[in-house]
Amino acid sequence: MGTTSIVLTGFMGTGKTTVGRMLAARLNFELVDTDLLIERKAGKSVSAIFQQDGEASFRQWEKAISCQLAGKPALVIATGGRLMLDEENAARLGAGNHVFCLVAEPEDIISRLAAESGQRPLLAVDNPSERVRSLLAERALGYGQFPQIQTSGRSVDEIVEEVLKCISAI
Ligand code: S3P
Repeated sequence: MGTTSIVLTGFMGTGKTTVGRMLAARLNFELVDTDLLIERKAGKSVSAIFQQDGEASFRQWEKAISCQLAGKPALVIATGGRLMLDEENAARLGAGNHVFCLVAEPEDIISRLAAESGQRPLLAVDNPSERVRSLLAERALGYGQFPQIQTSGRSVDEIVEEVLKCISAI
């Protein structure tokens, strides 16, 4: 299957990191989680960046990280939910790589995220479920530009198998 890197995009709670970890293990690739990389470089959590420096500052970090990772082989890159919706980031990270968008039913996303809304600054609102639905609607076209992998009702193993099948068919 070569060493072409794989980029996983998709809304929060669609399983990018979990799927990415297993995919990386299967391919013997390195897993890079862009949120974790940003936290390491910034020396603070994503929530702290949003709170102290503002969302625009976080988006600048995402741009910097996309530049840094562009063109690197043998990576599985689990991106933050909006990173690939930025045209420049998508052009940079998408070039020469396989990009897949993980999708899930809104109800699944809401229940998966319920336990960890504290880690998602965009969902630190009075009605997180409503926010999930409105963000999904806002981003539908953006996510729609990438090949979609359904995660609802499927095991991580099944999802990884589908990604591997897609890659070997390319
Ligand atoms: C965001 C998704 C988060 C993180 C940040 C913003 C978004 O990543 O980058 O909270 O705008 O969708 P995950 O998709 O890994 O939760």
